[in-house]
Amino acid sequence: MILVTGATGNVGAEVVRALVAADEPVRALVRAPRAVPRLDGVETVTGDLNRPESMTDARRGVRAMFLLPGYENLPELLAEARRTGVEQVVLLSGGSAGSGDLTNAVTRYMAASESAVRASGLARVLGRDLTFVGLTNEEARAELLATMPAEYVDAFFDFYVTGTLDESVVRPTVREVTGHDPRTFDQWAQTHLGTP
Ligand SMILES: NC(=O)c1ccc[n+]([C@@H]2O[C@H](COP(=O)([O-])OP(=O)(O)OC[C@H]3O[C@@H](n4cnc5c(N)ncnc54)[C@H](OP(=O)(O)O)[C@@H]3O)[C@@H](O)[C@H]2O)c1
Repeated sequence: MILVTGATGNVGAEVVRALVAADEPVRALVRAPRAVPRLDGVETVTGDLNRPESMTDARRGVRAMFLLPGYENLPELLAEARRTGVEQVVLLSGGSAGSGDLTNAVTRYMAASESAVRASGLARVLGRDLTFVGLTNEEARAELLATMPAEYVDAFFDFYVTGTLDESVVRPTVREVTGHDPRTFDQWAQTHLGTP
């Protein structure tokens, strides 16, 4: 059984879809049962990554886990996962994690998560390269501040406005990891038309 965390989100939903297409047994972690209708044909379980004690049902019989970064007490969550038979963890991280700039809030939580996974002995660490195009800086700041703490807004401005992170480099990672070519943004958008 493969446990996918963040299964209702952008990345996790894609991982679920890919695993189902590959005929792998998938369990999707959700925080609210209302998320279930989006996950047809996939076993779902509730749990909160910030509360390792809530993950007991989610971990049962799991041999591999797709894990989002940045949650509290990852070392405890990973130690429990190892104890109950998880053999492999794929961590979704980001390109900035290797920069060493721990003053950046996003870099800090990604680097801490990578360290925790490496220390657990269950590591498979996956970076993800993306390019963002769009709003003016003022519009972007206002939009981000509406939904996230100011230090994370500063972190993204540090990456993409100051320019401390370059995610425009095209790498062969998607083909290497998945065995097929990456989709264009247009193809991705067409696939997700109508998804709430
Ligand atoms: N998307 C990117 O470009 C990107 C790039 C690099 C790294 N990342 C990292 O990957 C994460 C996910 O990205 P995304 O774009 O897929 O995000 P998203 O679409 O916003 O989805 C976030 C997911 O995290 C789940 N979640 C939130 N808090 C949780 C908790 N306490 N316990 C368990 N699940 C929880 C949400 O579940 P609910 O349905 O319960 O809310 C949802 O499935 C980001 O937060 C970031 O750390 C993302």
